[in-house]
Parts: sequence; structure tokens; C-alpha cells
Amino acid sequence: MTGTEAPLAGKVALITGASSGIGVGAARVFAGQGATVVLAARRAERLREVVAELNRTGARTSCRAVDVRSDDEVRRLVEFVVERHGRLDAAFNNAGVGLPRSPLHLMDDTSYDLVMETNVRGVWNCLRHELTAMIAGGAGGAIVNTSSVGGLVASSVGAPYIASKHAVIGLTRAAAVEYAAHGIRVNAIAPGLTRSEMTDQWFAQSPGTRERAHRSAPQQRAADAEEVAEAAAWLCSDKASFVTGATLPVDGGRTAW
Ligand SMILES: NC(=O)c1ccc[n+]([C@@H]2O[C@H](COP(=O)([O-])OP(=O)(O)OC[C@H]3O[C@@H](n4cnc5c(N)ncnc54)[C@H](O)[C@@H]3O)[C@@H](O)[C@H]2O)c1
Repeated sequence: MTGTEAPLAGKVALITGASSGIGVGAARVFAGQGATVVLAARRAERLREVVAELNRTGARTSCRAVDVRSDDEVRRLVEFVVERHGRLDAAFNNAGVGLPRSPLHLMDDTSYDLVMETNVRGVWNCLRHELTAMIAGGAGGAIVNTSSVGGLVASSVGAPYIASKHAVIGLTRAAAVEYAAHGIRVNAIAPGLTRSEMTDQWFAQSPGTRERAHRSAPQQRAADAEEVAEAAAWLCSDKASFVTGATLPVDGGRTAW
């Protein structure tokens, strides 16, 4: 594999939410582009299956169960990456939970708390420990956070999800500005409709939404996880060396309409 085909060669990358959907797609894409990948999510058994699949192809991957809502678990995850692989060059903070649309005034605190704790505090926890490790490593780094079309516009999901994904963009911009001097780039991706467990559940609960969702973007389809992951891999690579504080829509044109 040449440098052109392996833009992440030699990099150690951490991916959260790597037990399904976009996270699994990212593990395949990052490993395929030469990165050593640590996969993290809550389901240890599922993570081990993905690691076994990737390592059969010659990839260098390992995994660790984590709940991103726990600062202590995320701290130990990042310590694990540095102890096992020597450093942390790139991180894709992708773990998140969805929330089907229902009227805001009827929604309960439990839904709000789950979404904010996972999607906002989770990214907050990851950022702090990843930045600490990258600063200690002294070689800079690149971080990509998963926002959403719902981080840019009020898309057809629950209001707390939209608030949480706007917050991810705020954290991304703040961190990009603060840590540019350390050679650390921080960006976000804003995926549109992507095939995953999250969307499978959503469509199962609300018949007819799949077709409506497909029609909501000019390309009129859902993305494969790997199509979204390609954008995150590019932002983590040195090819994106002058890109920081950006939010890249990967949405089939959804936010261009
Ligand atoms: N699928 C879409 O259409 C879409 C669109 C825009 C944004 N997103 C975002 O993409 C990201 C990935 O979602 P997906 O679509 O692949 O869904 P998914 O449900 O298949 O994957 C979510 C991943 O996050 C993990 N996760 C959830 N809560 C966690 C926690 N507390 N700690 C650790 N891991 C946790 C899950 O185990 C899983 O690995 C999410 O942040 C989601 O909000 C998805």
C-alpha cells in the first residue's frame, strides 16, 4: 500500500461507538488506510467480533469496553491506548444515541438526560482526555466529533437530540481555537441519513418514515456507514492539515436544500 492509499499509516486512532453503524464503518476505513485502531463502545462481545474480523485482514486493532458518559472510564480508555500503542494521534468521537421526534412539551426528562449525557458529556469526556494525551505526546493530533444534520438545522428528530448535536459543534469550534497552538486539529462531521442500528430502530418504530427520510435529501437515499467514515478518516489524516474548527456535512445534499 502506498502513502496515497494509506493516508493514516503509522497513526494510532481511537474510535468510540465502534460496535455498530458508522463506528464499525470507521474502524474498517481507518484500518484499511493503515491506522492502528482502538475500538471502544459498551458492548465488549460485539467489539471483539469486529476486532477479530479486522485482524484477519492483517489490520492492527484492539478494543476496550467503555461508557462515554463516565469520565473515569474514558480516562482509563485513553490511558489504555497510550500504554498499549505508545501514543494517540487521532480520535473519532462518534458514540451517540438517537431520539425519535415527539412533541417537545410532552418529552420526559429521561430522554433529555440520556441524549445530553451521551452525546454532549460523552464528547466532553473524550475531548479532555484525548487533548491531555496529545499535548503530553508533543506531536499534535487530529480529533473528529460526530455531530449530525441535526447539529445544523432542526431536522426530523427529537429536540434534545438537535440541541445535543448543536452542542457538539460548539465544543468542536472551542477546542479547535484553543488547541491549534498545540498542533491539534478538531473538526466535526454532520452526517445525514446513514444505515445503522439507530436508523433501523427508528424506521421499525415509525412505518413510512424510511421513504420520507430518503426523500429529504437531493440524493434520495441513505449513506452506507463507510461513506460517512471516509470523511472522518480524511479529517484525521495529514491531507486535511489546514482544516480545523470545521463541520463537514456528509448528507447527500440534505442541508443544501
Ligand atoms: N445513522 C444516522 O442517520 C446518523 C445521522 C447523523 C448522525 N449520526 C450520529 O452518528 C453516530 C453513530 O451513530 P450510528 O448511526 O452509527 O448508530 P448506532 O446506534 O449503530 O451506533 C452508535 C454507537 O454508539 C455506541 N454508544 C451509544 N451510547 C454509548 C455510550 N454511552 N458509551 C459508549 N458507546 C455508546 C453504541 O454502542 C454504538 O456503537 C452517533 O453520534 C449518531 O448521533 C447518525
